[in-house]
Amino acid sequence: MSTQTNKEFKKITTHALQAMKERGEKISMLTAYDFSMATILDDAGVDILLVGDSASNVMAGHETTLPITLDQMIYHAASVIRAVKRSLVVVDLPFGSYQGNSKEALNSAIRIMKEAGAHSIKMEGGEEIIESVKRIISAGVPVMGHLGLTPQSIYKFGTYNVRAKEDAEAEELLKNAHLLQEAGCFAIVLEKIPALLGKKVSEELKIPIIGIGAGMYVDGQVLVMHDMLGINKEFNPRFLRRYLNLYDQILDATKHYIEDVKSGDFPNEQEQY
Ligand code: KIV
Repeated sequence: MSTQTNKEFKKITTHALQAMKERGEKISMLTAYDFSMATILDDAGVDILLVGDSASNVMAGHETTLPITLDQMIYHAASVIRAVKRSLVVVDLPFGSYQGNSKEALNSAIRIMKEAGAHSIKMEGGEEIIESVKRIISAGVPVMGHLGLTPQSIYKFGTYNVRAKEDAEAEELLKNAHLLQEAGCFAIVLEKIPALLGKKVSEELKIPIIGIGAGMYVDGQVLVMHDMLGINKEFNPRFLRRYLNLYDQILDATKHYIEDVKSGDFPNEQEQY
């Protein structure tokens, strides 16, 4: 167990995250989509598990996050929730489940809370979703915001390049971060923005700011678990640190297994009844 893992909190709540920000303790967050991986990540002591709509990419093989449905998100979230003892579980509201109006957004959030047993939800956007954010929070559901590169809007942006490099977009992002905080969000993810903008947002806001490609000054970090473990080989953004090379390790193990089966080496006498 890492010495950096804070076991003070038996269960991570939104209040625990706020306390971490206030005393300068960085928050760790990873994505998870299934029971077995969530068990390991929770046992390791990660503070937040995000059932991200990146499941659309890494679990289902879609090019974007747009195709994943609310039912599919609920399936992934319920699997993660069954595994978790300590981490706070945040679940993405998928594209098309909240942009229509605040009633639709609330219904989608309630389905995730009731059917998956989630602890909170995450939504992409600023001013344009504020009414929905307020309605969901007033129903008792904690909301995490998401600004900067918001992959559900990829066809509007046209690229996955760094966002908010220009002053006007940076000011807009800062304004939206304040709006989300005022609406009652318990934290905000900032994706792929300049580190100094991440610093400014983190310093100006009271709530925790979690970055992915948002530099070192924010209050916590999130990575997609498949990227962090090296299950993907093709995705190599500057912000990614790989802690394992599971693609090659799994490939080698599988080749070894095939060889053993073909040669008759597996199973041996001890491995049969
Ligand atoms: O869906 C996801 O994995 C995310 C992270 C990139 C923050 O939203």
